[in-house]
Amino acid sequence: MDKKTHINYTPIVSGIIKQALKIERVEEYLKRLATHHKDTYAHSVRVGMCSILFARSSEFNQRDLQDIAVYGVLHDMGKLYVPIEILDKNGPLDTRERDIMNQHPRQGFLELSKFGDSLAGLVAVGHHEYKKNSYPRKQRRDDSSVSRISEIVALADICDALVHPRAYKPGMNKSTVERILREQFTGNPQLINLALSHIS
Ligand SMILES: [Fe+2]
Ligand SMILES: [Fe+2]
Repeated sequence: MDKKTHINYTPIVSGIIKQALKIERVEEYLKRLATHHKDTYAHSVRVGMCSILFARSSEFNQRDLQDIAVYGVLHDMGKLYVPIEILDKNGPLDTRERDIMNQHPRQGFLELSKFGDSLAGLVAVGHHEYKKNSYPRKQRRDDSSVSRISEIVALADICDALVHPRAYKPGMNKSTVERILREQFTGNPQLINLALSHIS
């Protein structure tokens, strides 16, 4: 049997995520997400942690890490608008279901902007734009600082999705994670090496 694959979070990451989760509005958002779909909630917290981990070892300042944690945690808020049957479907989505699923980055943008979290909204709308077959936009944003955060969150999102089991697939071993990252991630290739250095 394959050894389980892990993303190696550090105590510093745990400290930063704990602070981020205590922010009142983040708590509120996450409560709603946990009520809608527990697995998306758990994935969101892990993506927040993974975003901190990757941001810490790339060009970001220490003082940006808590914001990045919040953007990571809130990246999938649009899934509030995806029905449970689709989120939990044990098999490939049909065209109608895929269309609904592919709306979640835009829905996340609308949801977060409604409450004044427009930067978090921009990261939410961009988090599926750093891989092949990107959506909702085919062409990703320019090289702004928001884009660089979106790139980190996008990578954290892909890594978590590959490493952890989902309703429709088991967790993958490190060499499969590496192969898929190299095939699918269209952001800065050096970030792939950085991500792999945190996975065992
Ligand atoms: Fe997503
Ligand atoms: Fe996600």
